[in-house]
Amino acid sequence: MQILDGKLTSEQIKAEIAEQVSAIRARGGKIPHLAAILVGNDGASETYVNNKVLACERVGFKSTLVRMDDSVSEAELLAKVDELNCNDEIDGFIVQVPLPKHIDEIKVTLAIDPEKDVDGFSPTNVGKMVLGLPTFISATPNGIMELLRRYNIDTVGKHCVVVGRSNIVGTPMSLLMSRNTNPGNSTVTMVHSRTHNMAEICRSADILIVAIGKANFVTPDMVKDGAVVIDVGVTRLPDVTRPSGFRLAGDVDFEAVKDKCSFITPVPGGVGPMTIASLLQNTLKAQDLRKLQEKSCSNN
Ligand code: GUN
Repeated sequence: MQILDGKLTSEQIKAEIAEQVSAIRARGGKIPHLAAILVGNDGASETYVNNKVLACERVGFKSTLVRMDDSVSEAELLAKVDELNCNDEIDGFIVQVPLPKHIDEIKVTLAIDPEKDVDGFSPTNVGKMVLGLPTFISATPNGIMELLRRYNIDTVGKHCVVVGRSNIVGTPMSLLMSRNTNPGNSTVTMVHSRTHNMAEICRSADILIVAIGKANFVTPDMVKDGAVVIDVGVTRLPDVTRPSGFRLAGDVDFEAVKDKCSFITPVPGGVGPMTIASLLQNTLKAQDLRKLQEKSCSNN
């Protein structure tokens, strides 16, 4: 069994990005600038967003964190999105989800300028991804593709089972793995909460990608000998022995499954850091795109 080390790989990607930022700085170009909107005080979201901001600092990007109270109205949040859309200094931005229940996430996603949508969540960018056009691919699936690429995992003609059908991970992931690309060219099955024979289907996977959000959901009976297992899940489980009061668990029962796998991602240190590296790559791309189009908001 070999670990797919997302932490190490993301460090390599960040070093490559930092070099590109140094070159931009040396020629007096604009330093890429990522903004993040964080609504409320959800502990996990705070950690994710803080890590995104820290990663920006690490590669030399500028970053702006916009914090809003969880009582913020939908209209106020939409106004903030509009402000960032029109701020030429910001190359790309994200609105961390989940949002409080009184805010319509789809409405917010639709309000983000697709050319600044470095999360790749907008219908325009999802549509471009479906058609195989250049676009921002959402950070988690893109990070997984990059991890498979950098470890030279052979995906051609393999059976890839994607567990979960979320807009952010499962759906784009299944599409990317089926494309005529490398990695890609897999035969993909997507399974979800209503699937019959879940264990049997998972057991037929050469590549098993799990994004269902249930701690330790995948057990050894669901894994083929020699499978490549990618674990997207991050659940906080109460743990009184830790100062934080919790420990992180993936969707895969790592200890029980690891010896069956040819490759497996750990949690933490697998997909999570790759998601952040991917977001930075998208931000760099956003800046290139804006330079090409010299796009500016009409009300600026
Ligand atoms: N919440 C969990 N993952 C993500 C992500 O990749 N982007 C945003 N905006 N919110 C998230």
